[in-house]
Amino acid sequence: MKKWKVRGLALLLALSLTACASSEPAGTTGDVAATQETETEVTPETTVVPEETATPEPTEAPEPVETEAPEVTENFQSLFAKYDMKAGTCLSDYMITDEKCLEIIKEHFNSITFENLLKPEAILDKQASQDAGDLVVTFNDSTIALLDWCRENSMAMRGHTLVWYSQTPSWIFYENFDTNAELVSRDVMLTRMESYIRQVFEQLESLGYLELFYAYDVVNEAWMEDGTMRDCLWLNTIGDDYIWYAFHYANMYAPDYVDLYYNDYNEQFKTNTLYDFVQTLVDEEGNYLIDGIGFQAHLYTGDNLDQYFKTVEKLGSTGLKINLTELEVSLGTWQDIKPATEENLKIQGQYYYNLIGGLLQMVEEGKVEMDSLTFWGFADQLSWRKERNPLFFDSAYKPKYAYYGALQIKEYAGFDE
Ligand code: GLA
Repeated sequence: MKKWKVRGLALLLALSLTACASSEPAGTTGDVAATQETETEVTPETTVVPEETATPEPTEAPEPVETEAPEVTENFQSLFAKYDMKAGTCLSDYMITDEKCLEIIKEHFNSITFENLLKPEAILDKQASQDAGDLVVTFNDSTIALLDWCRENSMAMRGHTLVWYSQTPSWIFYENFDTNAELVSRDVMLTRMESYIRQVFEQLESLGYLELFYAYDVVNEAWMEDGTMRDCLWLNTIGDDYIWYAFHYANMYAPDYVDLYYNDYNEQFKTNTLYDFVQTLVDEEGNYLIDGIGFQAHLYTGDNLDQYFKTVEKLGSTGLKINLTELEVSLGTWQDIKPATEENLKIQGQYYYNLIGGLLQMVEEGKVEMDSLTFWGFADQLSWRKERNPLFFDSAYKPKYAYYGALQIKEYAGFDE
């Protein structure tokens, strides 16, 4: 844990206000998927800055004030290692050139999910596909740079994601890879899907990265809360067994050490749907084609934790692994986002404390097999939900109550004495 120094009143005030102000992005990716599109964007209420703190007095230069962040020796890696779990974060290309990000990532995490750079739109090559008459996978320079960074830093990886309705170019579904032409037949799309999945694993292997991977999200976000399948071009071209085929092909081409996952959001509202659906992902002998269920866990402090734990237990009872794959806890509810007041940040710290503590206890009691928990970032201003202040560090990289809560350090997690 680093200590930070606050030099002078103005800086002290500026720092104390950062927890209340939503900050500008410092390099967000900008190509965030239109996921959870049922959500209404709600602007958080404007935080009122107390007048007396807004303009520091220009009197004598004050003595430097030094405050220290509490000394903690725990980090996410060390905490989760006690439960044989990896600690993960998402990673974007701008982070590996930012010293502060690197310091945090190396201290806390041993598992990486690329925020965008292994998504279909990042790796499917239109020109090469048209030239070859087959879907062609090409890892671009940014993807290769991040893969290299993970290899150099001994990071384990979750692959994200192969088959998804979003951040997937629509030209892959059309004759001649041309959206002005007709959609291809089921047989052609199955051939393309197989070729695409095969190339991903073959190229990762031949480039020497495959052994970093312990898990891969084969299909992302295919189910709706009402139990129906999401309408998308995979469904429209192949039919409602497209998920089965995606897992069938992934099983053919992925090595055994890569666990194959179905990943989704609002898992606590899709529990029965997912429970029934995963039982259908079996081969002719009845063996699972799937190894795990990814819970995106884009949660809010208003979400019911007991309900969440019940979902973990029920889906864990399928015998499949459960990974939390994109955890962050926004303030409020999705209909009613709360501002980053001291009180709300304390509630967030407590929520993280209870959530992580509860999950670790379930792992310890053998109620769920969870070998990895990934947060969708670590600093609020880098998050796709930055205006909802969902993570551990504020815009000055000061640890929030959420940080101590998630690390199970109760005395700093925002609980009253
Ligand atoms: C979903 C996807 C992620 C990412 C987030 C937004 O959860 O699975 O890959 O796009 O949305 O960052």
